[in-house]
Amino acid sequence: MLQRYLNFLRGISVNWLGKIGVILVTSSFIAFLTMEMLRLTGAITNDYIGLITYMLFPALFVFGLLLIPFAWMRYRRQRGKSTRELLDETFSTEDLRSHMFGSRLVLNIGALTLLNVIFMLAVSARTLHFMDSAHFCGTACHRVMNPEWTTYQRSPHARVACVECHVGEGVKALIDSKLNGLRQMVLAATNTYNRPIPTPVHQLRPSRETCEKCHWPDHFYGERLLRQTHYAPDRHSTASHTSLLLRIESYAADGKAGIHWHISDRHAVRYAAADARRESIAWTEVVHPDGSTTRYQNTALDPSMAATATEVRTMDCVDCHNRATHIYEEPGSAVDRRLVAGELPLELPFIKREGLAAIRPFYPDTLAARQRIDAHLRGFYRRLGEPVQAELVDKAVVVLQSTYTRNVHPQMQLDWNTYPSLIGHRTENSGCFRCHQPAMQGTKGDTLAHDCFMCHRLVAWDESDPYRYFSPAPDSARDRALHDYLHRQLVQP
Ligand code: HEC
Ligand code: HEC
Ligand code: HEC
Ligand code: HEC
Ligand code: HEC
Repeated sequence: MLQRYLNFLRGISVNWLGKIGVILVTSSFIAFLTMEMLRLTGAITNDYIGLITYMLFPALFVFGLLLIPFAWMRYRRQRGKSTRELLDETFSTEDLRSHMFGSRLVLNIGALTLLNVIFMLAVSARTLHFMDSAHFCGTACHRVMNPEWTTYQRSPHARVACVECHVGEGVKALIDSKLNGLRQMVLAATNTYNRPIPTPVHQLRPSRETCEKCHWPDHFYGERLLRQTHYAPDRHSTASHTSLLLRIESYAADGKAGIHWHISDRHAVRYAAADARRESIAWTEVVHPDGSTTRYQNTALDPSMAATATEVRTMDCVDCHNRATHIYEEPGSAVDRRLVAGELPLELPFIKREGLAAIRPFYPDTLAARQRIDAHLRGFYRRLGEPVQAELVDKAVVVLQSTYTRNVHPQMQLDWNTYPSLIGHRTENSGCFRCHQPAMQGTKGDTLAHDCFMCHRLVAWDESDPYRYFSPAPDSARDRALHDYLHRQLVQP
């Protein structure tokens, strides 16, 4: 049997092209099987191996297969003989004699073709599966996707595949995404992609097909405690706490609604933005179950700008959770977070102030960033003229360097705050305040609600006690009136 197969291979290796074809097909076939075997038995665990097993080997296999008929055609032209004559020359008469199901040669070709088809089907299924893995999406175009891959790995969705959010359900979504992927590969190969990558809100599937498979509106109830610690830029990096009770329910019993009210299936919230980043909202409206609408117009927006807001969007999860997975930190809270976690040593004097000063600038490349952060911190403690533990400074340098490289990616022109989060209100009209602000006026002269207690109640606001307003104000408190007011908000909702 083996001998016959070898004879067949020798028969079709008519020239050097044919030989290369046969070698490529056989070796990639064997290599693929070996790698799969090693992967299945757990001998290989390196994720990058998928790029070779599922992309390179199948490509070589198909290329080899294509070479074989091509080689035969060339051979025929060179020899100037017909296929029949050439077959008589290369194969034995035994191989060519006709039987009930055709000659042995035809049977051989048929059997091998069948084997190839089965093999290719199995491999394509594996390849498609591999292309859906987060590892492929995040690392195949390493330079381009590095920021998204870095932030993804440290996010609450680090075990959710990219395609769960970026592709959605159905054949159309699958084809769209593959075509889009092809276009992106060309952009990456020709180095013509945008830096930074524009946010793909238009290409994202509706949340109903993605986020809501795992989270759904009815699921939200009650309040969520958000506790943040800030450190002051003083010698001891003094800590203070801000705690909020966020009303995250989609519906509440008393008719008052919470934050996830926007995505309840009983109504829709629509808006039109005057810019691609959805930062200037021209108008927003509620579509009630009976089809009527309540509209609010942004009176602070320049009318010529408002006129450009023609595309209407129905609000869904990513209009607030645009950073559900690709979470970039702000420099101040990035340092705070590492101080809370004990990664940055609080024993170092002025560590908050100097750590922040070291990571805030934009450095031309990662190497320069590492050097300058190192030089800044060591330089500061040398000049301070006090004894500080050298190991603590070493540790701080490493942590600050990795904080920087996690958030800032010079090769993609991605600085601090390139992709701001839409949750909360960092400035007067960002995040929630894009809509919930006094300038957003209804038809009857009313304004869109923006009361401080509709979204959250305050439990502490820059206090040393993170739960301060839960207790009544002590008689000696200087801010007694305010404290009592906030305390009442907490105990009688
Ligand atoms: C939990 C859902 C989710 C997962 C998982 C996810 N993404 Fe995203 N991705 C998003 C959302 C939401 C946006 C931003 C949409 C917006 O702002 O309009 C986004 C944006 C992006 C962008 C545009 C740049 C940016 O940050 O706005 C790229 C590129 C990207 N994702 C790649 C990936 C890759 C690669 C993976 C897997 C390693 C991945 N995503 C996994 C939800 C997800
Ligand atoms: C395949 C399931 C899945 C999909 C799809 C998914 N998530 Fe999640 N999400 C999770 C899981 C699981 C967690 C909880 C992780 C944890 O507790 O650490 C989570 C956590 C979250 C959190 C809470 C994070 C925190 O700080 O506690 C938010 C917000 C969130 N997801 C939003 C989204 C949005 C927006 C989308 C769509 C763009 C989405 N998710 C798509 C599974 C999913
Ligand atoms: C109007 C803005 C807005 C919309 C729209 C919105 N969310 Fe949220 N969501 C928030 C805020 C604000 C929080 C609480 C703040 C935080 O987690 O930092 C939150 C919290 C969450 C949490 C954490 C809940 C918990 O119990 O801790 C999940 C999960 C989540 N949202 C998923 C979603 C999904 C899925 C959608 C779409 C179906 C959605 N959100 C739509 C603003 C929104
Ligand atoms: C695109 C505009 C838009 C954005 C952005 C937006 N909202 Fe709203 N929100 C609305 C509209 C419109 C209403 C309905 C107001 C009305 O007519 O009662 C609403 C209602 C609410 C309500 C319910 C009020 C009630 O009792 O009926 C809460 C709570 C709320 N929003 C919180 C938030 C939070 C938190 C954010 C940011 C994470 C946010 N919203 C971002 C448009 C927006
Ligand atoms: C439309 C909803 C909404 C309104 C109105 C609102 N907030 Fe907030 N606020 C939020 C959300 C959502 C967050 C949480 C952001 C996050 O998850 O990081 C927040 C965060 C905060 C924080 C903590 C911020 C930080 O990073 O330290 C403070 C303090 C705060 N709000 C005070 C106020 C005050 C004071 C008012 C009234 C002028 C107000 N808020 C009105 C939604 C709102």
